[in-house]
Amino acid sequence: MTDEVTWSPAATDEDVEPGLRAAFAAELGGAPDGVWAAPGRINLIGEHTDYNGGWCLPFALAHRTYCAVRTRADGRLRVASRQAPGQAWEGEVTQIRPGSPGGWVAYVAGAVASLAGRAGGPVGADILVDGRVPLGAGLSSSAALSCSGALALADLVPGLATLDRAELAQACVRAENDYAGAATGGMDQTVSLRAVDGHALLIDCSDFSLTPVAWTLPDHEVLVIDTRAHHSLADGQYAARRDTCDRACRTLGVESLRELHGADVDGVLGRLEGDAEAQRRVRHVLTENTRVHDLVAALAAEDADEVGRLMVASHVSLRDDYEVSCRELDLAVDAAQRAGATGARMTGGGFGGSALALVPRDGGEDVALAVHAAFLAEGLEAPHLLRATPSAPAHRVS
Ligand code: GLA
Repeated sequence: MTDEVTWSPAATDEDVEPGLRAAFAAELGGAPDGVWAAPGRINLIGEHTDYNGGWCLPFALAHRTYCAVRTRADGRLRVASRQAPGQAWEGEVTQIRPGSPGGWVAYVAGAVASLAGRAGGPVGADILVDGRVPLGAGLSSSAALSCSGALALADLVPGLATLDRAELAQACVRAENDYAGAATGGMDQTVSLRAVDGHALLIDCSDFSLTPVAWTLPDHEVLVIDTRAHHSLADGQYAARRDTCDRACRTLGVESLRELHGADVDGVLGRLEGDAEAQRRVRHVLTENTRVHDLVAALAAEDADEVGRLMVASHVSLRDDYEVSCRELDLAVDAAQRAGATGARMTGGGFGGSALALVPRDGGEDVALAVHAAFLAEGLEAPHLLRATPSAPAHRVS
């Protein structure tokens, strides 16, 4: 039905756990030692700043990835997923290598492998995954997967008990960077493991120190528009953005663009003369870092209009200077604004995935309908919608 918006509500732990335990018995035999859950995320602002040592402001979703886990003493790993029937993987933990296993398994196998070295003895496990973060929507379903697996191991393996959540997040970053081959920057894993319920998390990515930021706009909510667009060039494009930032750092004689926070932007760009691409990328990063701090101040002042204005400015910068938006994301942002959203922007890495709309609480349905209609009018597949509320970090369910 073309006039019906598809909503993707969050499942609760109580919805998921009994079925996951039953599926564990059927698929892997017997009972797990426990069930763990880790959330996906949205990022309010601060995009492509994490790997530049800057700031970002994500919050955890109520949508989570679950892992039922049982340790084993023989150093072997078995991984299966309720979302990927027939794709179970089994092998020695010591044989896990970059790219092998590949695909979604790499995110959990990579986390096991990167923790195994810290355990002081062989680590093995049987893991059944139930992913309830929309897949491929730019909402960090992959970080949620590695984080729930990593937290399970830290709880179950005595040699890992002393690792704190910052260390676990770093192990999950290694799983993505080294094993899954995605050069991501640490925001997703940090918020999945270290979120504060009811708050956004201001992350200083130079040292991953955190400041919880209260959500002060009770009359507004954040709608997520999953455009269902996935552009296959994304991974190479993401790495290319990082490379350009590294090149700019070399020209500018800094270790990280973070060192230029607060500097005169035009003066910095002048030192990149002749490299127009680096100028655009650096302008985005420097202005985006400033917008993060401005948005935190706007939240403290309960100023929804200013929050919305900063979101739109971030989107324009990502679209024009960082060049990571796409037709579907631009359409979602434009349609939401035309329908009365206070602000809107793409969230996450870009090239597809999701946009956010900040909407007055009584206006969410209208904005959702308008965005849905705009996609159909352009001949695009209907987006999926979800409501984002700042939620809890990864936890043990049972
Ligand atoms: C992806 C990466 C993050 C971050 C964002 C862009 O989500 O996983 O580390 O770089 O893109 O802000």
